[in-house]
Amino acid sequence: MKFLLFLLPPFSFLLLTDCSSLPDTILTTRQIICLDDGWRFSFGHAADPAKDFNFSISNIFAKTGRAEGSAIDPKFDDSSWRELNLPHDWAVELPFVNVNNFDVMAHGYKPVGGLFPETSIGWYRKTFEIPAADSGYRYNIRFDGVFRDAKFWINGFYLGTNESGYIGISYDITDYIRWGGKNTLVVRVDASQYEGWFYEGAGIYRHVWLTRTNNLHVAENGIFIYSDIGSISAKVTVETTVEDQSPNPSDYTITTIITDRDGKEITRSTTSMNTKTQSTSTSSNQHIFKSAHQQISTSANHHISTFQHFNISTPILWSPSSPYLYRAITIVSKPMGEVDRIITRFGIREINITADKGVILNGQPVKIKGVNCHQDHAGVGSALPDYLQYYRIRQLKNYGVNAYRTSHNPPTPELLDACDSLGMLVLEETRLLNSSPEYLDQFERLILRDRSRASVFLWSIGNEEQGVQTTSTGKQIALTLMARLKVLDPTRTCTYAADLANVFEGINEVIPVRGFNYREKAVVPYHNDHPGQPVIGTEMGSTVTTRGIWEKDTVRCYLPDQDLTAPWWASLAEAWWPIAAENDWMSGGFVWTGFDYRGEPTPFQWPNINSHFGILDVCGFPKNIAFYYKSWWSDQDVMHISPHWNWPGREGDTVTVWVNSNADSVELFLNQQSLGIKEMPRNSHLSWKVPYEPGIVEAIGFWNGKRVSARVETTGAPVKIRMDPDKTRLIANGTDATVVNISALDSQNREVPDAQNLIRFRIEGDAKIIGVGNGDPSSHEPDQCAAEQWQRCLFNGKCQVILQSGKKGGSVVLTAYAEKLETADIRIETNEN
Ligand code: GAL
Repeated sequence: MKFLLFLLPPFSFLLLTDCSSLPDTILTTRQIICLDDGWRFSFGHAADPAKDFNFSISNIFAKTGRAEGSAIDPKFDDSSWRELNLPHDWAVELPFVNVNNFDVMAHGYKPVGGLFPETSIGWYRKTFEIPAADSGYRYNIRFDGVFRDAKFWINGFYLGTNESGYIGISYDITDYIRWGGKNTLVVRVDASQYEGWFYEGAGIYRHVWLTRTNNLHVAENGIFIYSDIGSISAKVTVETTVEDQSPNPSDYTITTIITDRDGKEITRSTTSMNTKTQSTSTSSNQHIFKSAHQQISTSANHHISTFQHFNISTPILWSPSSPYLYRAITIVSKPMGEVDRIITRFGIREINITADKGVILNGQPVKIKGVNCHQDHAGVGSALPDYLQYYRIRQLKNYGVNAYRTSHNPPTPELLDACDSLGMLVLEETRLLNSSPEYLDQFERLILRDRSRASVFLWSIGNEEQGVQTTSTGKQIALTLMARLKVLDPTRTCTYAADLANVFEGINEVIPVRGFNYREKAVVPYHNDHPGQPVIGTEMGSTVTTRGIWEKDTVRCYLPDQDLTAPWWASLAEAWWPIAAENDWMSGGFVWTGFDYRGEPTPFQWPNINSHFGILDVCGFPKNIAFYYKSWWSDQDVMHISPHWNWPGREGDTVTVWVNSNADSVELFLNQQSLGIKEMPRNSHLSWKVPYEPGIVEAIGFWNGKRVSARVETTGAPVKIRMDPDKTRLIANGTDATVVNISALDSQNREVPDAQNLIRFRIEGDAKIIGVGNGDPSSHEPDQCAAEQWQRCLFNGKCQVILQSGKKGGSVVLTAYAEKLETADIRIETNEN
């Protein structure tokens, strides 16, 4: 066999053979290309095939690769379609509509779903080139998340359908590629059917990746890493599944190198694979595993799994307070060189969930101080730039949150990257409790994708399935899902979120960890009756509050910003948290919710379009209740007074002043007059009835002789704008982003908490605004504005701009201006490398 050798970028070799069909000896490491840029988009139509580019009337399935007369045809002219980059959520771009329908309300009054055929089908097209020289490689395309029911074609060839709006899909597209020519990818997204009862977005709202590999490569999700922790060392197991699509499989080796987070090698192991005998032998730099026996399993389509074991002495363990991540570098080699390499970040940690001490992380009990979250954020809907995932997790950690439930669906991988990196335990939930092939497959894809994640500590097989949760059918479905889980991830167990009181019959009989949605009064009786079953609060609390609001307002649909109001099925924070705090066996729980989200405007309806459940609003601005949790969840000294002290016209009225703090005692002052000192009850708060007079309210707290104070004071009218960027340096890669929080100041530079000014924004330089928000749950202002027309009102003193870099490095100036206020600007530097 003749061959030529070219030098490619580091670690890469390209070997060309004289074979015209797929050669079996092309060597190269993989290349992963993000396909987010340069798409064309158009609405289709769910009820009119002519407006749906003839989909369903042109017979696209009659002959393979033939799609004439439809938008699937590579020759179709899409030049009039809109150009956009992913991630894209078309629901957030649409106006709010006042339609009297439960699901439209629950989804945030957006015209998406069966009632809106003209705005529920989205067509996406993208063309890209693949060099002729790449003929012989394999290409795979992966969509991380499309809402929903997406059909995919490449060059007119149908690839498949992914019904799920939440778990991704990938396809091997090698057979259909036009080497050295233009390739046309077409996606038809059908969001006319809902999956949940909350805002879900619409479109290709997560990343798309094109991966080039050799025929011989690590299979998708082919690395599974887990550890057993001993007293001075940890045994780390790396299970590697290799896929060989060569016509003539040949021998290869798998080398796994474990490094610390700076890339310094700790240990390595090499396993040789003999394809004829399907046996392996291993050499390792560790005595105990030299020539160790390797387990091996092979499937008919050339998937072969090997197990390598590593002994890591004095490991740095992963936990929310110390999220240390090691790397496993997997290298697949043939005699002439490396053919594939991937790097997997992993944490060394051990989780046990016990009936008497709750969650045990690395041998220590850890109380779950968790929040439930949906995936949308102010301004951008469900199409979050990766940066926002980190921003959101950092905001939650500020308030002592250590766990996140992905209610009620698989999250984007970048959310889990943020949780792994920043230290956030994750309860990961599949969308629907169902063991049919479709849903079992969704559950399996979720487990295989995320089972090496340090952050994921527990799986959830479903939520509030009232139709079956107490029946034998429910129990049977649960058993089927649990059996699959045991095979795919024997390192973790699962729960199910039951809105049931002290009820055992059905799913609860078999579920390893009993999940409570609300019904907190039944938690202790249930535990007494079933002391051998661990208990966790899958949805707890659920105080409804509107940031910065003092009194309930049924016209604008606002609720007081204190721990005062909860729906009938839920409870106040102070009703559930003490139960978790005071009982060692109670694992803790997840508040409903971390952030406000679009939809479920409980207890109101139109004009309210947003939920009120968050301890943070939809932008991540804290409500007062966030400081209740911070007092009892974080290890910081907390002293927080609410409400603000701007109540013009209410002089003499009694204002109930709340102090959230973890001090031993607190003394409150109004204009330097003491209003008394009080002991702080644990897991609670203090309050004083104070006749309003403008001035200063100050709280002084004492902790064993240490003194900490906080104050709120009456401000003047707003005179200028303040801008707080989360960061001022961005990578000029077209995807990096930053939040810029906006407030108004009075003449003494005090933030004005009740300012409602309309703020306009202008941007110069290579960057763009991608969304604005303000946390007002009844605002119908657009989250997305036309270029040059970005604006948002302050809501109780705050609004937010999300800014995204372009690809040209340089200075970006964001200017905020408003009538009667001094203009403000900030400079952001973007760097190309
Ligand atoms: C729960 C449900 C959540 C949300 C919440 C609102 O019953 O699991 O998804 O709907 O109620 O209170």
